[in-house]
Amino acid sequence: MALRSALVNVMAQAAKRAARGLVHDFGEVEQLQVSKKGPADFVSNADLKAERVLRQELGKARPDWGFLLEESGAIAGKDAEHRWVVDPLDGTLNFLHGIPHFAITIAAERREEPVAGIVYDPIRDELFWAEKGQGAYLNERRLRVSGRKRLEDAVVATCLPRPGEERQRRGLAELAVVMPEVAEVRRFGSAALDLAYTAAGRYDAYWEWSLKRWDISAGVLLMREAGGLVSEIDGGHKVLETGNVLAANDVLHEPMRRLLARARKAGVKT
Ligand code: IPD
Ligand code: CA
Ligand code: CA
Repeated sequence: MALRSALVNVMAQAAKRAARGLVHDFGEVEQLQVSKKGPADFVSNADLKAERVLRQELGKARPDWGFLLEESGAIAGKDAEHRWVVDPLDGTLNFLHGIPHFAITIAAERREEPVAGIVYDPIRDELFWAEKGQGAYLNERRLRVSGRKRLEDAVVATCLPRPGEERQRRGLAELAVVMPEVAEVRRFGSAALDLAYTAAGRYDAYWEWSLKRWDISAGVLLMREAGGLVSEIDGGHKVLETGNVLAANDVLHEPMRRLLARARKAGVKT
C-alpha cells in the first residue's frame, strides 16, 4: 500500500477540493454548449475559481512558500527555496467543449526542482502522484512506464499542429515522419495528463513543444519516478525551462528523439 507523505496529502486534498467546483461547473458547461453566448466566460471563471481555492488551501498548509500560478503569475514567499507550481485547469479547450478530459496539476518545487507532484483527473477520480525518490503512483498503485520496445508497437501522444505557418509546418513534418513508424498517434488535449499517462505506461511516448512550467513540472517528476526518461525534444536537459518535452521509456526515448530530429532535418525550422 502506498504511503503518501504529508506534503502529497496537502496537494491531493487541495486538488480534490478545487475539483468539486470544476466538476460542478463542467456540468453547467455541458448545458451552455447550445446557448448563444457560449461557455467561454463561464469557463474562465471556473478556472479562476479553482485557482483561488488551490492558492488558499496550499497557502494554509505552507504559509511561507511562494507560488507560480498559471492565471495569477509568480508570487514570492518568505521561503525563497520553496514554491507551488499550479495549473488549476489543464485541458481548458476540452472543458470548454464538454469533453471530459482535463486535470488539476500541482508541483512542489525546491530550488526550482520538483520534489513532489500530482495530476488529478476529477472525472475518473484518478490521482497520479509522485515524490522524489519515492516512486510514482496512480491512486494506491505503483506506476511504471511501458515496457514496449519496438516503435511499431508504440502508441504515442503529441499536440496536433496548431494554426501558425511555422508551427503547422513543423507539426506536419513531425507527423509525416513519426506516423509511419509507430502503431498510432493520439492527441487528447491535456499536457499534464499526457505525461501522467506516459508515466502509467498507457502511452509509450509523448512529445510536445513550448509547454509552460505549470503544465509539466509535476508530470516530469511522475515520469522520472516511474522509471522513464524526459528530456527536451533535441535531447537537452532544460526541459522545465524550454517546455519542449520528449518523454518515453528508456528504450524508445532515443529512437523517438532520432525520428523527431529527422523531421527537423527535413526542412523544418524550430
Ligand atoms: C494546454 C494543454 C494542451 C497543450 C497546451 C496547453 P491549458 O493547457 O495542456 O494539451 O497542448 O499547450 O497550453 O491551456 O488547457 O491549461
Ligand atoms: Ca495547461
Ligand atoms: Ca490552464
